[in-house]
Amino acid sequence: MKKTSSNNKTVRRVILWFLIILLIPAFSIKACSKSIRIKEIEITDPDIPKEFDGVKIIFFSDVHCGKFFSVEQVRKLVDKVNSRNPDIIILGGDYVGDYHPRRGFRRVLREVIILPIYGDPDAKDFVKPFFDEAKKLKAPLGVYAVLGNHDYWHDCEELSKESLSESGIKSLDNKAYWIKKGDSQIKLGGVTDTWAKKDQTLDPTINDAETGDFTILVSHNPSFAERIQTDKIDLMLSGHNHRAQFGLEPLFRKKENQDRYFYGLVEDPNLLVYITSGIGEVVLPIRIFAPPEIVEITLRKEK
Ligand SMILES: [Fe+2]
Repeated sequence: MKKTSSNNKTVRRVILWFLIILLIPAFSIKACSKSIRIKEIEITDPDIPKEFDGVKIIFFSDVHCGKFFSVEQVRKLVDKVNSRNPDIIILGGDYVGDYHPRRGFRRVLREVIILPIYGDPDAKDFVKPFFDEAKKLKAPLGVYAVLGNHDYWHDCEELSKESLSESGIKSLDNKAYWIKKGDSQIKLGGVTDTWAKKDQTLDPTINDAETGDFTILVSHNPSFAERIQTDKIDLMLSGHNHRAQFGLEPLFRKKENQDRYFYGLVEDPNLLVYITSGIGEVVLPIRIFAPPEIVEITLRKEK
C-alpha cells in the first residue's frame, strides 16, 4: 500500500512539473504579446445627446512608425481600424520617432544591441509614408489628430504639420470642432503637446461650449489633465506613456500620485481620462504586460 501511495505522489509531481514547464513559456509569450488588441470601453454620460447614443469612436496613439513599426504594419493597422466601422477616428500623436536615452542601462542596450540590428533611420523619412497610409482611415463623422512630442522633435515639425494637412485629417492642435448628427452635436477639441513647449490653449474647445454639452479633449500628454480647471470637459484622451512598455512599472515607482495618469480609465471628480498604452515602441522593441491597443469607445446616453 505504501509503495502505491509513493508512486501516486511521484506521478502527481511529474504532472505538476510538466505543467509548470509548459506554462512558463506560454505565460511569457502572453506577457510579451505584441499583437494589437481592441480595448472596448463604454462612456455613459447624461450630456451625450440621444442621437450620439451608440456612436463608436476609435482612438489610437503612439504608432512610432520607423525601425520597430513598418509602413506595412501601419497599412494593416489602418485596415484593422476601418474594419471596426467607427463613426469617428481620433489619433493621439507620436506617429514617428524614437527616444535616445543619454545615459544609463537603456543607452547601453540601445548602442550595443539595437543600433547594430535595426540601425538608426531618420524619423523624417517616415512622416509622409505614415500619413499616406493614415489618410485611408474612414469614418463618416471625421478623422481627427493631435501631434505628439516626437512629431515636433527630430526636425519633423513642419513636415508633420504639412503631411497631416495634406492627408485630409483634421488637426486638433489648439483647435476644436462641433460634430453634428441629426439636430444634435458634441464638441471635440485638442491641445498641442506639453513636451514640445508650444502654447497650449483650451479656448477653442470650451469657449462656445456649455457645461451641458458633451465635450472631448485630446492631449497627447496625459499630464495636461492636472491643469484642467473647467468642468466643461467630460472626457480626455491621451497616450504618450506607452504604459512604460512595462506594465508593472508603477510597482517600482515611489512618488504618490505619480501614476494617476499612467494607463486606462481614470475618474477625476468632473472628468474621465483614458490613457492608452499605444501601438508602437521607443528605445527597445519590447512590451511586457503592456500590450499595444486600439481603443474602441462607445458613447451611451445616461438614461
Ligand atoms: Fe510615444
